[in-house]
Amino acid sequence: KNYIQIAIDGPAGAGKSTIAKMVAEKLGYTYIDTGAMYRAITYKAMNENINLSDGNAIGYLLEQTDIALIPSPSGQRVVMDGNDISQEIRSNDVTSNVSEVAAHANVRAEMVKRQLKMAASSGVVMDGRDIGTHVLVNAELKIFMSATVQERAKRRLLDNEARGIQSDIASLEEEIATRDKMDSEREASPLVQAQDAIFLDTTSMTIVEVRDEIIRLAEERL
Ligand code: C5P
Repeated sequence: KNYIQIAIDGPAGAGKSTIAKMVAEKLGYTYIDTGAMYRAITYKAMNENINLSDGNAIGYLLEQTDIALIPSPSGQRVVMDGNDISQEIRSNDVTSNVSEVAAHANVRAEMVKRQLKMAASSGVVMDGRDIGTHVLVNAELKIFMSATVQERAKRRLLDNEARGIQSDIASLEEEIATRDKMDSEREASPLVQAQDAIFLDTTSMTIVEVRDEIIRLAEERL
C-alpha cells in the first residue's frame, strides 16, 4: 500500500475544507467533504417539509437519496439525485439547521457507511467532525484543527465578501459558536479530538503554513 488515510476534524470555520482540498490535490488523493453530505440531506428534508427532529423520517428519506461528491477544478460538486446542489447547501438556512439533522444516530450510521465505501480503495483526505473518532479510526494521520471563534468568524467574513455575500462579524461568531456547541454536546459521535490526533491551532497560521505542515506530517507516514 503506497497511500495513507488522512482525517481532518475540528469546529466550524477552522479552514478544514480549504486545507483538505489542497492536501488532497498535492498528494493526488480523493477529497471527501462529509459536511456536504449532512448539508445535502438537511436541504432535502427542509424542502420536503420534514420535521428535522424526526430522526426516523430523515433516516428513511436518506435511504432513498443518492448523494455524490464529484471532484471538480473548483474543489468538489455535490450532486443529489442527479441535481447539482453545491450552492444551495451553503445557504444560511441549511447552515443553521444541519446540526439538528446531524445529531440523529441513525442518520450518522448511514453516512458513515457511505463514507467508508468512498474511502475504500484509494488515498483520501476526509474532513468532518467524527472522522478520526468514528469513520477512519485507523487513519495514519489524524488532525484536529482549530482557531479562536473570533478568527474563524473573521475568515468566514472575508470568504463571504469574496463571494459577494453580505454578513456581519457578530452574527457569524454567534452562528459558529452555536453550531460548535450543538456538535460537541450531542450524544452520537460528538465533535471531540481523537486520542491519537495531532492538534493544530491555526489562529496565527496562514493557509500555506497549515497545508505545508500537514503535507510534512503525511510524508513522514508514507
Ligand atoms: O463541515 P461543515 O461545516 O459543512 O459541516 C456542517 C455540519 O454537518 C456540522 O456543523 C455538523 O453538524 C455536521 N457534520 C457532522 N459530522 C461530520 C461532518 C459534518 O456532524 N463528519
